[in-house]
Amino acid sequence: MAILKIASMGNPILRRRADEVADPSAPEVRRLIHDMLETMQDAGGTGLAAPQVYAPLRIVVFFVAREQASEPPEEQEGAQEGGTAAAGGLSVPLTVLINPVLEPLGEEMDLGPEACLSVPGLVGQVPRYRHLRYRALTPSGDELVREAKGFHARVVQHECDHLDGILYPQRMTDLSTLAFMDELHRSVSS
Ligand code: NI
Repeated sequence: MAILKIASMGNPILRRRADEVADPSAPEVRRLIHDMLETMQDAGGTGLAAPQVYAPLRIVVFFVAREQASEPPEEQEGAQEGGTAAAGGLSVPLTVLINPVLEPLGEEMDLGPEACLSVPGLVGQVPRYRHLRYRALTPSGDELVREAKGFHARVVQHECDHLDGILYPQRMTDLSTLAFMDELHRSVSS
């Protein structure tokens, strides 16, 4: 296990399309996933994509804390990774997606705040699909299919964008909402 260095906006690794994972159960993939989980926890993130830790592979990890979720998750079939949801106040358990594919359900978009470990200190309002379905492989090679709404859907869209070389500022429609978190906190409290 290791805490990995996180690439920041401007690094070419964050702009390229990541490669499909050929063997989800390969030892080096398993090791990368463990390190990603440790790195995400250390950095206090809610999600992390492999390109952010210099691995150009289609792997993301995330969870949704209960206080962040606007809707409960809807499980369709397949296995859940982790299985610690009930214990820790998580709305969506720690989830690993390998080679994920997103399918928007409906046209509705919501505007909401996003931050990113690769864009430190900033926060911006980003439009995202309200409702979607995602498919992916789990580390054990099973297929996972879920529907997601609200914050859960937002996190998945943000993380999967990393696999296509897209950072959230590129999705913003109003760059005047891009702000330093420090300034935002200052202006709220004064
Ligand atoms: Ni990010």
